[in-house]
Amino acid sequence: MDRLVIEGRVPLCGEISISGAKNAALPIMFASLLLSEGVTLLNVPDLRDIITTCRLLEVLGCEVNFSPLEGRCEIYPAGLAETHAPYDLVRTMRASILCLGPLLAKKGRAKVALPGGCAIGLRPVDLHLKGLKKMGAEIELEEGYIVARCSRLKGTRITFDFPTVGGTENLLMAASMARGETILENAAREPEIVDLANFLISCGARIQGHGTSVITIEGVDELKGGIYSIISDRIEAGTYLVAGAISGGRITVKNAPVWAMDAILEKLREMGAHIEVGEKDIFIDATSPLECVDITTQPYPGFPTDMQAQFMALMCISSGSGFIKETIFENRFMQALELMRLGADIKITGDTAVIKGGARLKGAPVMASDLRASASLVLAGLAAEGRTIVRRVYHLDRGYERMEKKLSGVGARIWREKE
Ligand code: UD1
Repeated sequence: MDRLVIEGRVPLCGEISISGAKNAALPIMFASLLLSEGVTLLNVPDLRDIITTCRLLEVLGCEVNFSPLEGRCEIYPAGLAETHAPYDLVRTMRASILCLGPLLAKKGRAKVALPGGCAIGLRPVDLHLKGLKKMGAEIELEEGYIVARCSRLKGTRITFDFPTVGGTENLLMAASMARGETILENAAREPEIVDLANFLISCGARIQGHGTSVITIEGVDELKGGIYSIISDRIEAGTYLVAGAISGGRITVKNAPVWAMDAILEKLREMGAHIEVGEKDIFIDATSPLECVDITTQPYPGFPTDMQAQFMALMCISSGSGFIKETIFENRFMQALELMRLGADIKITGDTAVIKGGARLKGAPVMASDLRASASLVLAGLAAEGRTIVRRVYHLDRGYERMEKKLSGVGARIWREKE
């Protein structure tokens, strides 16, 4: 098992290039199950979750050629024969549930392991199943598996109880090849959903309203292949901006999806960082001290839950005090106890963490518990005096491409070691 070692208190300076968005690449890779031809995806990040998705697509019968250094992934779905997504793969990556909609729409059946709970909360998939049932699927739960069947899915009107990202994606994919019109109401509006819709449209799907809370899909009989470039990762870009901020440095993130980052940039400005935004670049200067703010996580375009842990680390060393209220997941403050081991002052009551700033963090061994919590510990390590050792880095590798290389490229003292 690998660990990251960080010697902190170096102001970062320079440029970091942002990779393709994990949360856009995953649904788009699953959407290729719907196609009648091969597809070439560009700007695909080299991450553990992407490798898991390649393996799952292969298990289902697709031919997959992933060239990680080029960020290029070719998927040929002609051999799709299997409709069984086994537990061993699904349990390592919850997003595997995204094969359910495409398999049902394309093959009329699917057997997908129920993902189960995960560290950050219960994360049920009831809204995915409710929508697919409304489109005509028969769904049963058998021995830990979702077993679903249908003749051809039928278009219908579906109103989500909550704007679920994965649920919207599963139904968007299923509806693209259903009979007739599907209207998704109270749909999630995340940029990654817009990217999935744009991908499907490039393959011949008829979709309108993506990026708003009402998406209308007119099902088609066939979707073709092509070439598609995935958007850049707004959470990775946000994480490196916080790295610049927490180190009191000046950095530029290149190739960032600037249009999708308003809520993150607004909070950094409110904290006192100087930000300059170009077409695809964002420059942050945090050489003057920052102040704590209050943050409430919300569905897009609100402040993303996936950036909450990183801002918690930043607030620990900023002046004043502030709170973070987490409204999306029930159990997403696991970084807090580890940050406290570094000297942070955080109190948690229910869904709210109150952070008293002004801490002088001191390096210590800490344990990563989930993807974004791990990122927050690395960030805290950049600000801490002495040596911070982040264990269980495999969480980080699920969602950040070569983080230690990108950070050392802007001057951080960080390296990977075998445990
Ligand atoms: C996606 C992202 C994840 C991000 C999250 C919220 C991917 C691969 N993952 O996760 O990084 O943190 O959006 O922005 O894109 N819920 C239900 N029933 C359902 C579905 C969801 O109760 O059927 C609840 C969940 O438990 C959670 C909330 O709705 O409390 C949001 O979940 P959802 O938007 O579906 O997140 P994911 O798609 O799992």
